[in-house]
Amino acid sequence: MTQPVDAPYRRGLPWVGQTLRYVRDPLAMMRDQHDRYGPVSEMDFIGDRWTVLLGPDACEAAFRNADKAFASGPGWGRLVGPFFDRGLMLLDFEEHHRHRRIMQAAFTRDHLAGYTAALQEPVRRTIAAWEPGPDVQVYPALKSLTLDVATEVFMGGVEPTDPGELDRVNAAFIDCVQAATALVRLDVPFTRWGRALRGRRLLEDFFARHLPGRRDGDGTDLFSVLCRLRDEDGSTFSDDDVVNHMIFLLMAAHDTSTITSSTMVQLLGQHPEWQERCRAEAMALPEHPTLDDLDTLVDIPLVMKEALRLVPPVPVVARRTVKETEVLGRRIPADRLVVVMMHLSHHLPELWPDPERFDPERFAEHRREDKAHRHAWDPFGGGVHKCLGLFFAGAEVSSILVHLLRHHRWSVEPDYRAPLSYLSLPFPKDGQPVHLSPLPQGATWHARTS
Ligand code: HEM
Repeated sequence: MTQPVDAPYRRGLPWVGQTLRYVRDPLAMMRDQHDRYGPVSEMDFIGDRWTVLLGPDACEAAFRNADKAFASGPGWGRLVGPFFDRGLMLLDFEEHHRHRRIMQAAFTRDHLAGYTAALQEPVRRTIAAWEPGPDVQVYPALKSLTLDVATEVFMGGVEPTDPGELDRVNAAFIDCVQAATALVRLDVPFTRWGRALRGRRLLEDFFARHLPGRRDGDGTDLFSVLCRLRDEDGSTFSDDDVVNHMIFLLMAAHDTSTITSSTMVQLLGQHPEWQERCRAEAMALPEHPTLDDLDTLVDIPLVMKEALRLVPPVPVVARRTVKETEVLGRRIPADRLVVVMMHLSHHLPELWPDPERFDPERFAEHRREDKAHRHAWDPFGGGVHKCLGLFFAGAEVSSILVHLLRHHRWSVEPDYRAPLSYLSLPFPKDGQPVHLSPLPQGATWHARTS
């Protein structure tokens, strides 16, 4: 048997390494790293040496994790800090398996149908109230909408102890998300890190205070459901588990759905023929679509898949090896940070013809370009940590688009390229401006009832 050899190491500036190149243009950085060093290489990144996995075969090896060498918690922990401690994605092996089995019961079809019903009216009401204009910043508007949805669906019916409590919870949550990528990582007042540590404590107090009521009640929101979950062996979550999972779930569900819907708005603004196709099927649904209604959509899911291919909200995932292992003939030592860069696979011309072109039909049954490789399209990751909320994300994002298409028409310059910041998950630094005009509501009604 051939012995694995060390992976090639790309030297860079001390501490900084490839950080700046990644933040400036991650796809260009990944392409260059792949072309010059192959699918398994090493580089310095935010102060540590990382092994980089690029291309579908290398990503597959980490997701399959055949010899259980890759752990998620100590990898992600290095990136997102202590703010999402003991969330499902940061647990490993047996413990992860046990928690995932319990949590899965909160994402059954029945529960998803309930969450989908709960989000319709807040989404419809908010989107109907959007002010038309030539320069509407959709990204912040969508961000605030998805946070409201998360508050409603995840914690619906929580009675705040005072009128400002939910605002403080939202602010604390935003502080935690923003600090995850802070460069200064010290508990000092007025730093992002210090604010986020206080935010985490506030979130812990909030959920712990409302928990007894949820355990005893019969609510259908995610918080109540987590409190009452029991797997087939009768295992349940402790109070601390529920609090940790809720804080992580808020984070997992929020920016990811915002980025996906914002990219879809951009692409549909640049491709009016697709906007009209999607509008036609949105108009055919009832005012408050159910999960079954959303399942009848064809074009909106195609656009969603293409948006996730072009701009994956989670472009990379982090791991750390708990023992020495090997990927594609390259040795990876124990206790090494590993970054699995799925984003590159989405743009490889050997998997996707004309990869930079917006072409949602590449996912249609008669083409299925995503089947070129098991890991050609990995926006939700793979293996045991594959996104648990992917069906909820599909229902939420489709609902947002359905209501948007029914109330507004919009356009975006054909040559517009969103200036994405990759300091955390990718978001458009300019707020993603669109020219938004109202759709005559008579036309909406007519199309829906004819
Ligand atoms: C378009 C939206 C979303 C995208 C692109 C996305 C992406 C991902 C990715 C890539 C992972 C894997 C991380 C890893 O392997 O380390 C993940 C994990 C996870 N996501 Fe999502 N996510 C989305 C929405 C959601 C939503 C809405 C929820 C909850 C309602 C959610 C809950 C989770 C959970 C619980 C995990 C951890 C699973 C585990 O470790 O077993 N996600 N997500």
